[in-house]
Amino acid sequence: QQSGPLITQFFPPLKNDLILRAARGEKTERVPVWLMRQAGRYLPEYNEFKKEHSAGFFDMVRTPSMACEITLQPLKRFDLDAAIIFSDILVIPQALGMGVDIQEGKGIIFDFLLETPEDLKKLNTVVDVTTELHYVMDAITLTRQQLNGRCPLFGFSGAPWTLMKYMIDGSSSAPLPKARRWLVQYPEASRQLLKLLTTKIINYLVAQVKAGAQILQVFDSSAGELGPTQFNKFALPFLREVAYSVKERLHEEQIDPVPMVVFAKDAHFALEDLAKSGYEVVSIDWTQKPAHARRLLGSQVTVQGNLDPTLLYASKEELKHAVKEMVTKFGTNRYIANLGHGVSKDVDPENVKVFVDAVHIYSEEINAT
Ligand code: CP3
Repeated sequence: QQSGPLITQFFPPLKNDLILRAARGEKTERVPVWLMRQAGRYLPEYNEFKKEHSAGFFDMVRTPSMACEITLQPLKRFDLDAAIIFSDILVIPQALGMGVDIQEGKGIIFDFLLETPEDLKKLNTVVDVTTELHYVMDAITLTRQQLNGRCPLFGFSGAPWTLMKYMIDGSSSAPLPKARRWLVQYPEASRQLLKLLTTKIINYLVAQVKAGAQILQVFDSSAGELGPTQFNKFALPFLREVAYSVKERLHEEQIDPVPMVVFAKDAHFALEDLAKSGYEVVSIDWTQKPAHARRLLGSQVTVQGNLDPTLLYASKEELKHAVKEMVTKFGTNRYIANLGHGVSKDVDPENVKVFVDAVHIYSEEINAT
């Protein structure tokens, strides 16, 4: 597989650019919709594929043909307005030399964790992520071709703070979280690690765009663990640097810019700052009130979100009602419908269909009145 800016011109023309237009603040006939974690364990075809190939999660992530097929699975069932490449935020710690596996029932297992600043020496700081993670770029190029212009393809990365969190605590819910303690006890080493991650993330996201990604999302899923002071010191500046440097690099390399989405989960206090952090879209979790979030974010960014993922367990009627309320409250401009976090593994795919269709139906209804 060849990848690089040249290949971009050979991709099939895009038939559905709703999400790109919404991200740029242009009017759309209906509200675009996709779901975080739209591919994965709640889909029987995902579980069958995994079993049939006796593949582990990262085997599938590392095999472009498999990653491509799984990325496309939800699009065969639902009328989605975006695809997201099947991969994981933990590929960056892997590229830095931290072995990670994900096993059914056991969750995330790291070979080793960062205990003290001494352990930073264990990292392969000079790694070139564009070669080390070339399989992601290949999967993106292949998927963009296979999508045949149906809808845009998301590339993504974990945010610096969230990756640091996983590299120190091993999961998002460690019994004795040490990552936050690092920020207090070892601020300099923390900054060094965050800076290292930022550099790798920028290179990685630029490579994804060159390979064919048409929109990017940065997942700061552990943002809410930080208070406002720590967030402003250790998360926001690095999120900003990611956005501005990716844009600058694309510009320097004469590649068209792509919209960027930031998802700083549970960071209520940060909305005003996030609206000015260089991202076109701010994705919010379900604990935020639509009108309040809009007010804080202002009119210069698009909002993405934020249905409570547990509503996918509700009755179809209740779910439709909640979607209608959500779309009504956010309005149909500068809005991308999504969940407030990822789909859980045991939801009924039929309810995902209800969610997606309801967004389209209600937003067209609102636009027609
Ligand atoms: O959204 C998509 O469909 C694209 C694929 C995607 C995955 N992970 C696939 C996946 C994306 C965008 C991610 C991002 C990701 N990974 C985040 C940020 C978003 C969020 O949910 O907050 C985080 C924190 C991770 C880390 C991670 N990877 C976790 C916490 C888990 C679950 C581990 C467990 O307890 O089983 C994973 C594994 C994972 N990533 C799966 C999938 C489909 C399940 C793997 C399997 O067992 O088949």
